[in-house]
Amino acid sequence: MIIRPMRKADYAAVAELANLCRPNRITPSIEWFLVDHHALVMMIDGEAVGYSVWGMTADWHAYGRDHGIRPDWRHKGLGGLLHEARLKAARDAGASHFVGITWDANGPMKRILGLKGVRMTHVPHHFADEGDGWTYVCELKD
Ligand SMILES: CC(C)(COP(=O)(O)OP(=O)(O)OC[C@H]1O[C@@H](n2cnc3c(N)ncnc32)[C@H](O)[C@@H]1OP(=O)(O)O)[C@@H](O)C(=O)NCCC(=O)NCCS
Repeated sequence: MIIRPMRKADYAAVAELANLCRPNRITPSIEWFLVDHHALVMMIDGEAVGYSVWGMTADWHAYGRDHGIRPDWRHKGLGGLLHEARLKAARDAGASHFVGITWDANGPMKRILGLKGVRMTHVPHHFADEGDGWTYVCELKD
């Protein structure tokens, strides 16, 4: 298993994966992954099994945008490993902290964000389809 920055050539596989993981959403463009944000891809035996997208503001505030593991590869700890790689990428890029948000019913993602961060704020109606959100903050400076 390797986790590496997403490349242009990964777009078709990652877009398919993103559609599997977030079926109610319009497929993000290649620019959304590679220009507007930073994206990591997790590969196992040449197959893209996970992707993770984050952004950073001009004042070193990193934030999560998307995160997914192929359904048949879930519940093996891969989502947690991929999030740790995303935090490391943000730290290496100079971020002081990382803010993640997920919806109230997303137990696995709340667990992943909570293992590396502190739950902060309930955000009513944050998600159009999934309802309320919870934000988590992870300090990245030593
Ligand atoms: C969220 C997602 C990435 C998790 O991937 P995964 O590889 O199954 O995650 P992991 O195996 O690392 O498990 C995460 C943790 O959640 C825990 N968990 C699983 N179901 C849970 C539940 N209903 N409630 C609480 N915790 C739960 C697991 O036990 C694990 O914790 P542990 O490592 O302490 O045992 C995956 O479910 C996914 O792609 N979902 C669809 C897309 C999505 O929701 N993305 C997040 C957008 S914010």
